Amino acid sequence: MDNKAKSQSEKYDYQNHWNNAYQKNPLTNLGWYEEKSEQSFNLIEACNLPKDALLFNAGAGATTLISDLLSAGYTNIMVNDISSVALSELKKNIHIRKHASVNFLLDDLTNPTQLLKLKNVDLWNDRAVLHFFTEKQQQIQYFNLVKSAVKKGGYVILSEFNLEGAKKCSGLDVFNYDSAMLQERLGNEFELLKSFNYTYTQPSGNPREFVYTLFQRKE
Ligand SMILES: C[S@@+](CC[C@H](N)C(=O)[O-])C[C@H]1O[C@@H](n2cnc3c(N)ncnc32)[C@H](O)[C@@H]1O
Repeated sequence: MDNKAKSQSEKYDYQNHWNNAYQKNPLTNLGWYEEKSEQSFNLIEACNLPKDALLFNAGAGATTLISDLLSAGYTNIMVNDISSVALSELKKNIHIRKHASVNFLLDDLTNPTQLLKLKNVDLWNDRAVLHFFTEKQQQIQYFNLVKSAVKKGGYVILSEFNLEGAKKCSGLDVFNYDSAMLQERLGNEFELLKSFNYTYTQPSGNPREFVYTLFQRKE
């Protein structure tokens, strides 16, 4: 296969890309930094899950959400990212209380190895990760993983750039969504419970348009 025929995902070292992003910038300057991940947190709380429910955070990076979930009493948290630098930063910034556990899973959501073992997830949370998967094959892998990991009755929160949103982030192309597209990818087995648009303001002051969605897997 010549270079042209190779897909973008084969040519490009995404792990290096994201490690660089976290290495070169203070966390609070990153174009996706939130002092409080309020929309995600509120959607998680709306699910009314027991505190020991398994909360899987896909491409969590160094999000402040994990600290807030621990403070709210959640005890069974799994954090994934492709960037070891991001996960090290996160580790430095969280305080894991007695009886709580945070498991870190360094793996690629579009080419999973460790992640294939992930089962019985009560809640899958993704903010600003899926939209980086611009190729059909990456998207298929991602949604296959969601479907193999989330239990019946479990929840899926997908929060991505919406159709009016930016076409690039962190120097990478993105794939924009609305709730109908996400529903279509998840299939009939998942029911859309809630969806809203939200304008996030980057540390630089620029607006970024998101769609937030909450789905539940049917019993
Ligand atoms: C825009 S950041 C969002 C981080 C976090 N979700 C938040 O809201 O702060 C995108 C994150 O996805 C991670 N990521 C990108 N591609 C990934 C992949 N294939 N597998 C796992 N994580 C990935 C990046 O390292 C980065 O932490």
